[in-house]
Amino acid sequence: MRILVTGGAGYIGSHTCVELLNEGYEVVVMDNLYNASRKSLERVQEITGKTLTFYQADLLDQPAIDKILDQEKVDAVIHFAGYKAVGESVAKPIEYYHNNITGTLLLCDSMRRHNVKNIIFSSSATVYGDPLMIPITEECPKQNPTNPYGQTKTMLEQVLMDIQKSDPEWNVILLRYFNPIGAHKSGMIGEDPKGIPNNLLPYVAQVAIGKLPSVGVFGNDYDTPDGTGVRDYIHVVDLAKGHVKALEKFKEEKTVRIYNLGTGHGYSVLQVIDAFGKACGKEIPYVIKPRRPGDIATCYCAPEKARKELGWTAEYGIEEMCADSWRWQSQNPDGYNE
Ligand code: UFG
Repeated sequence: MRILVTGGAGYIGSHTCVELLNEGYEVVVMDNLYNASRKSLERVQEITGKTLTFYQADLLDQPAIDKILDQEKVDAVIHFAGYKAVGESVAKPIEYYHNNITGTLLLCDSMRRHNVKNIIFSSSATVYGDPLMIPITEECPKQNPTNPYGQTKTMLEQVLMDIQKSDPEWNVILLRYFNPIGAHKSGMIGEDPKGIPNNLLPYVAQVAIGKLPSVGVFGNDYDTPDGTGVRDYIHVVDLAKGHVKALEKFKEEKTVRIYNLGTGHGYSVLQVIDAFGKACGKEIPYVIKPRRPGDIATCYCAPEKARKELGWTAEYGIEEMCADSWRWQSQNPDGYNE
């Protein structure tokens, strides 16, 4: 089976390419390298000893998508490409809606014309908003995300469901990620954020390596055991393997399927800082700051549906997530450095 991976040079995309190649899939990557490096794909090939095909192209360039689909005869698309910074999306809603929504519409239109109607979409726990139930099952009603980035995820879920409804030849899988962290065991690929990281783990990793002085903990007055925010951190390799498992569903009845990909365990900000300190062998300095607008207290999933239907369970715990993040960060202090 040949898979087109949009955004395949990015953090989750590159880890997914490794798992796809390891499982014998042929991989075609389309990425504009806006927030990713070509080096990640070189390293994917080094790790796996296999080759993939790479097109540097933008989803807003529909002739480029058409050309790839003309040439590559893919069976399915895993669609990661998109802008993903929550704060930036508040400042740049036009860019976020245009890039994420228009890009996906152009992709689906090209897929339809090439009769490629299997798609896995990178969705997010953000579609649950401030969740109405914990742990969060897939039946938990969606709620309004508090930022344009989250809106694009929830809107694109709807777009894909409507496409499937209009043409039952489509097979749509929506994967709702919780908080992906960690890196490949080799330390060769990992998360490489531009500038000061927004997310907790890359921030902690940069404090550990001495690039930033201390972690700001955004609030210690939440209704959680230690007052700091609780999230369902999931090892990016586990997440990547979830995509490979999901592909097998394309052999079954054509429909829309929705899965949470998380571990089902919640860790607080202070627990993560502590676990990372143990992984890197030094204490991570932190200071308590005010709450970050839009944050919720607790978010973790019920992962049973993915276990039952995909035969997938997250294997790695917080210690491995931190150890692997640290290996990537310490071996690549400047990321891919391009
Ligand atoms: N946090 C800090 N300090 C930091 C960064 C984060 O204390 O410097 C805290 C946050 O307040 C939160 C936790 O660490 O309690 C995790 O924050 P992240 O920014 O790492 O992750 P979020 O849960 O806020 O966001 C993630 C994804 C989004 C997605 C969202 C909801 O990054 O893409 O989950 O699914 F929308």
